[in-house]
Amino acid sequence: MVRIYLQVAGLLAVMLLVSPFVIYAADFGRDGLRGRLDAPHYLFSANIPANTGMFSHMLLGALITLLVPLQLIRPLRQRLPGVHRWTGRLITLAAAITALGGLAYIALRGTIGGAAMDAGFTLYGALMLLAAVQTYRHARARRIDKHKAWALRLFWLVLGSWLYRVQYGLWYVATDGLWSTPEFTGGFDLVQNFAFYLPYLIGVEIYLRRFSSRETRANLRA
Ligand code: HEM
Repeated sequence: MVRIYLQVAGLLAVMLLVSPFVIYAADFGRDGLRGRLDAPHYLFSANIPANTGMFSHMLLGALITLLVPLQLIRPLRQRLPGVHRWTGRLITLAAAITALGGLAYIALRGTIGGAAMDAGFTLYGALMLLAAVQTYRHARARRIDKHKAWALRLFWLVLGSWLYRVQYGLWYVATDGLWSTPEFTGGFDLVQNFAFYLPYLIGVEIYLRRFSSRETRANLRA
């Protein structure tokens, strides 16, 4: 019981912590889609499909970042399964569009950091798209263990964009921006291209394998 309270409190705390980034991304996305940014920005250009991909990915990305912790709250899943299902449909669809929007932007304009950042973010987008499709597919087929494993991967991938900023923030506070350049070509920048999602996904895989025998299987089924 205490464990469930702690889990719920943790997930609500995550929602609170991500909210400044959610507001920032949603405002940025909305203003970009309207073509009404406060000041000129390199992400906004005359390329309308690229703008649509970039700013819609921000708006929908903000939505899924806010909503995804809700899906892991067990009492909510148990008491309001209908809400879990509809929020799940919304999140998986919005996550797929977020990923496709980011991928379209990379294909049309490329990132500020060049090839290495393109590679890191392309893999990120592809994994998010895969996780969204698999989470939905397994839920539809009632393969609950698999659905929950993919949902956990999707959760960490969605939080990745926020973690990217958190990791930069902490690094700048600790080192004053060592190995980081405005062009995102420093050693830290290169590692960061993958470090905001890959270590967390590895953690999920270890978690799923290590506890898959009993406890997590029970958790995953709950
Ligand atoms: C999870 C939800 C996501 C949110 C809330 C989000 C939000 C944002 C925001 C606010 C920016 C503007 C840069 C900044 O202000 O720091 C941005 C940039 C970007 N995002 Fe996302 N994003 C998300 C997911 C993704 C995914 C899945 C991809 C994968 C393709 C992606 C690719 C990009 C790219 C390529 C840029 C521009 C990089 C550059 O500066 O050149 N994002 N994102």
